[in-house]
Amino acid sequence: MKQYDIVSSVTVYDWEELSSEDRQLVEAAKEATRTSYSPYSHFQVGAAALLANGVVFTGSNQENAAFPSGLCAERTTLFSANAQYPDQPVLALAIAAFKGEHFLQEPIPPCGGCLQVMLEVEDRFKHPIRILLYGTDGTHVVDSVRALLPFQFVKKSML
Ligand code: THU
Repeated sequence: MKQYDIVSSVTVYDWEELSSEDRQLVEAAKEATRTSYSPYSHFQVGAAALLANGVVFTGSNQENAAFPSGLCAERTTLFSANAQYPDQPVLALAIAAFKGEHFLQEPIPPCGGCLQVMLEVEDRFKHPIRILLYGTDGTHVVDSVRALLPFQFVKKSML
């Protein structure tokens, strides 16, 4: 029998500790929660993607009466950014969630489906995506989606 550990490094920043570029990206994700269409969950998620050309692309969760037809903020954002700028690597992605009257204290981890899409975007552009998960108690930052999804099914898994 063998055993191995998988270790991920996450850095938690206070608001003042974030660079102004990171703060701007998180602010854009927070702002994007206002565009959420979430009449079923009342859970407003916003995301902001920084592209290599400097463009910041935002999106939010878009729900549907046929529940599975809705889409998370992360995928809405990445799919529309990639559709608009198919040759621009995504450098960073900030995510914020708002419920009731407040942003959440603890950040929400992206769902499995969104992690898989982020992984494809990293592989497609051969560039890691820095992920910033905003919470009012701190912004949790990882250097790549690989830190959140330790076992990765990618194109080369099928070779
Ligand atoms: N949601 C996101 O937009 N991103 C996540 O990472 C988790 C969940 C959305 C989907 C749905 O509209 C609502 O939050 C409740 O699950």
